[in-house]
Amino acid sequence: MLTGLKDILSLAEKGNFAVPAFNVYNMETVMGIMEAAEAEHAPVIIQSYSRLFTNKEGYFVSPIVLAAAKKANVPICFHLDHGAGITEVTRALRWGATGIMIDKSTLDFEDNIRETKTVVDMCSAVGIGVEGELGHIGSVSEEISQVYTEAKDAKKFVEDTGVTALAVMVGTAHGRYKKAPKLGIDRIAEIHKATDAALVLHGGSGVPDEEIKAAVKAGIRKINFGTDVCYSFLDKVFETSRDLIAIDLFMKDAIENVKKFGIGKIRLLGAENKA
Ligand code: 13P
Repeated sequence: MLTGLKDILSLAEKGNFAVPAFNVYNMETVMGIMEAAEAEHAPVIIQSYSRLFTNKEGYFVSPIVLAAAKKANVPICFHLDHGAGITEVTRALRWGATGIMIDKSTLDFEDNIRETKTVVDMCSAVGIGVEGELGHIGSVSEEISQVYTEAKDAKKFVEDTGVTALAVMVGTAHGRYKKAPKLGIDRIAEIHKATDAALVLHGGSGVPDEEIKAAVKAGIRKINFGTDVCYSFLDKVFETSRDLIAIDLFMKDAIENVKKFGIGKIRLLGAENKA
């Protein structure tokens, strides 16, 4: 069933697990993730990057996610990931998102608060929870910042903006790591104690299982996986025989591989049988 960000994350807070948030790009990645969620009886967040809402893809992918969520017998939140601005946020709301992220983490603290709060006010008018970002989480192509989000700043940010969820910088980055990251587990625990917002770990692909488990134990409630959804899909596409012409048949193994990837992460985060 289609579920809001607040409701899905409160399941995680009550049950001491993290909801996996998978980035999707097309019908087949949605199908793989949905099948994983249903097979594991798990709540799942299906999200798409802001770019898909800047360009045309979001218009086409959104109804697919909504159709899947409405058919599912587990809670599914449809979330805008790293919303760049008001255009993307408005489109996501119009196209049915039940969770919104606004990412103003490259601005200074006060500007980040101001612009995030504008989006929280907009979204709360239609009952949608918002994820903000404090402490910029960059890409693996840059040097991974060692400047972690401070607990006292997180507390003020959450109080001043009213965000439901907060992405924090604790040692991760987006993309394929050159070297396995080591997370700031103590800092996660400190921030979790300081604020009521659900804490979000970005850059989940390639983080060692033990680090993920420790992060969940310390209070992370949503973990994003993007790059490895792409690899699980594309690796199979490149292996599939070119003799298969019918696209639905060509895609079957790729969907199955996304499902397999999804099931692994659902179990790792302790989200199985939590629907
Ligand atoms: P990865 O692509 O590194 O898994 O990060 C995904 C993410 O954090 C999306 O916001």
